[in-house]
Amino acid sequence: MPSPSSARPNALARKAVIPVAGMGTRFLPATKAVPKELLPVVDRPALQYIVEEAARAGLPEVLMVTGRNKSAIEDHFDRTPELETALGVKGDEDRLAAVHESTDVAQVFFVRQGEAKGLGHAVLQAAAFVGDEPFAVLLGDDIIDARDLLLEQMLAVQAEHGGAVIALLDVGAENISKYGAVAVEEAKVSGDAAGDDVFRVTGLVEKPPADEAPSSLAIIGRYVLPPEVFAAIRETPPGRGGEIQLTDALLKLVEDGVPVHGVVFSGRRYDTGDKLDYLKAVVRLAVERADLGPQFGPWLKDFVADLPAEGASPA
Ligand code: UTP
Repeated sequence: MPSPSSARPNALARKAVIPVAGMGTRFLPATKAVPKELLPVVDRPALQYIVEEAARAGLPEVLMVTGRNKSAIEDHFDRTPELETALGVKGDEDRLAAVHESTDVAQVFFVRQGEAKGLGHAVLQAAAFVGDEPFAVLLGDDIIDARDLLLEQMLAVQAEHGGAVIALLDVGAENISKYGAVAVEEAKVSGDAAGDDVFRVTGLVEKPPADEAPSSLAIIGRYVLPPEVFAAIRETPPGRGGEIQLTDALLKLVEDGVPVHGVVFSGRRYDTGDKLDYLKAVVRLAVERADLGPQFGPWLKDFVADLPAEGASPA
């Protein structure tokens, strides 16, 4: 029997779910009291870029799955009357507009995960909000450059084929054990100058040892999922690390015959929960900013020119 979502592939996703309840252990001690999703990338929290991406892609209703120590996230997306009044009295329109950006961009809802039992468990908390529609999941620490229309393409693939669509990145065989890895059919479903390559996914495994990985294609933080995923998550026992893994629930969908497609991303992506990637994101986005780049770029060039050659010890 065809699954409900594959029977009506043209139902469009309208809602976004952003899980932000993880512990952020890779960024300690900064994340002891500050959620990693609020670490500033230039002058706005990483999470704000992600909410803006959802709104741009036509998903104006956003649910954040939060947890303990994450109340600052709710504050960031709430109004701040005292600050707004103070800036208004000063006539500081630019800063007032910056404050409004976070409240005007989308309608943001919150639900608590209670206990960080894994990404699959976090997504399950969105079941009542989502209802019986396809929806997008954007990880709260994964920034996709605003010029790369990954989510838009994934939504189009989901509208065409139904089922689930996941974002993939070729991370190389040496890095795949840090990610969920997938097996895909050899023949592309589509792929042309207008978009990234699309493949049908045939298998998924969370953080496999390098020699057992089905490919070097890693799952990155964008998903468009059918509502059937909730039943699959409910049936998924704790897996890797004792957590309820979304990857395992997606494998269940594959096994049940629900179409799962992967879009192999070729653009710019930053995992801001990782220290090195975070630094790259800040530098790259700052250089490209019209208000900072003209001063920061030349300084950066001088700084790099003065760096000791690789292998040499610093002065
Ligand atoms: P990560 O795999 O980056 O886990 O989660 P983490 O625990 O936050 O970070 P590290 O590895 O300890 O540094 C990916 C996304 O899923 C969310 C996280 O907030 C992050 O946005 N997540 C993860 C949850 O919401 N709940 C969970 O139980 C686990």
